[in-house]
Amino acid sequence: MGNVSDAMKKHQAEQAAKAASERSEPAPAAAAAQPEPTPQPEPTPQPQRPHRHSPVILNGYSPKLVAHHQRGSRLAEEYRELRTSLLAQYKDERFCLLVTSADRGEGKTLTCLNLAIVLAERREFRTAIVDCDLRKGNVASLLQSENGPGMADLLRGTAALDDVLQPTSYPNLVVVPSGQAETEEIGELLGKQELEEIVGQLRRDFDHVLLDTPPLNEVSDARVIGRTAREALVVVRMYKTHRESVDEALRLLHSANVKPVGLVLTHQRYPIPSYLYRYS
Ligand SMILES: Nc1ncnc2c1ncn2[C@@H]1O[C@H](COP(=O)(O)OP(=O)(O)OP(=O)(O)O)[C@@H](O)[C@H]1O
Ligand SMILES: [Mg+2]
Repeated sequence: MGNVSDAMKKHQAEQAAKAASERSEPAPAAAAAQPEPTPQPEPTPQPQRPHRHSPVILNGYSPKLVAHHQRGSRLAEEYRELRTSLLAQYKDERFCLLVTSADRGEGKTLTCLNLAIVLAERREFRTAIVDCDLRKGNVASLLQSENGPGMADLLRGTAALDDVLQPTSYPNLVVVPSGQAETEEIGELLGKQELEEIVGQLRRDFDHVLLDTPPLNEVSDARVIGRTAREALVVVRMYKTHRESVDEALRLLHSANVKPVGLVLTHQRYPIPSYLYRYS
């Protein structure tokens, strides 16, 4: 997988140039000659969008969602190659995958979102992203939506699946945010029978289900969630994650009876096309 940072910089530069040209547009000359306007009622205040002034969030979705903002980019094309490689592994082209990694910050969530977006380009298929990172779930914030109700509420039994599914700008892509949970209750929530029922329902309702998870080598959550998905896409940050950490992550998956179906290399300095390897 190529470099999201480069793509982001390009996108932000384009947005900044666009904003600057909008700011410098001269006021229409006719405006000066207008008669006194009749008083108008105060406009109804619009609800303020969260993160409105954040330098990172532009046009709603985070610029890190390269497959959304730069559909024609090389990186978006790499996500499509990942899509093709995955689909080729399933006769009916349907799958439910854990997206995980050995350590923090390797690119799991962005892989999940960008992959889901290119999957949603195939309008005949329905995709669901489930933020199963009850500790640091940020899928909703990358989409600039509310982080709840979500998975935590489903597991507690205080919400139903229909209450937590969030639509996206893709008609065939929905998101289940993580919701809010105290660190102390996460183990108990993930241990509940409801988890299998929820994932089972999502499998029936959607063609592709992507479960974003915390890192394997840090907490047991991904392995626990793995009992529902049985298969995993393992994200590896190039030039940073040690081989031993990846080995340990694969060993943990194996011990949880979860089959890795591929490795996705992120943070590549030189994007290479064949980044997905079948794990044997
Ligand atoms: N393919 C990529 N190329 C370059 N940078 C990337 C790539 N994917 C992700 N990143 C960078 O890595 C950072 C972490 O990405 P992301 O949040 O997806 O990781 P994560 O594995 O989900 O992290 P966590 O373990 O904290 O949940 C992002 O902010 C982004 O800048
Ligand atoms: Mg993440």
